[in-house]
Amino acid sequence: MTATAIGTALALAACGGQGGSSSAEPRLKVTSSYMPAPVTNDMAAGFFTVTNSGGADTLISVTSSLAGDITLHSTKNGEMEEEKSFAVPADGRLDFASGGNHVMFEKLTHKPKQGEKVTVRLHFAKSGTVTVEMPVKSPTYNPETGH
Ligand code: CU
Repeated sequence: MTATAIGTALALAACGGQGGSSSAEPRLKVTSSYMPAPVTNDMAAGFFTVTNSGGADTLISVTSSLAGDITLHSTKNGEMEEEKSFAVPADGRLDFASGGNHVMFEKLTHKPKQGEKVTVRLHFAKSGTVTVEMPVKSPTYNPETGH
């Protein structure tokens, strides 16, 4: 292969990465994160939305200095179930919302108060770590009405 041919092949490969196909790099954005102020010292829940304008990724774990034990939960037929991971579809979104998917914080190091921000790290299989400053809202906060 000549140098020109190699250059062309690389240019084509780079171009193929822009289309949002399944082999493309994920491009994640985490928005609308919040934590309802917990009413007990034992546990808290966290919610957010991941939007992806690239290839598929997977949320594999969540860490924070707030809690000694952090797990991923889904809600099926009104019952919580622990999940090992959550898929982030290519050109799609992954929603964590009250009554549905949530991050569960247990063994809290302190009780978060409304107005505080909790640093939470989301670990993705391909994109690595995304740090989120999760605002603590009222215990009954509804993201649709904003209060
Ligand atoms: Cu739960």
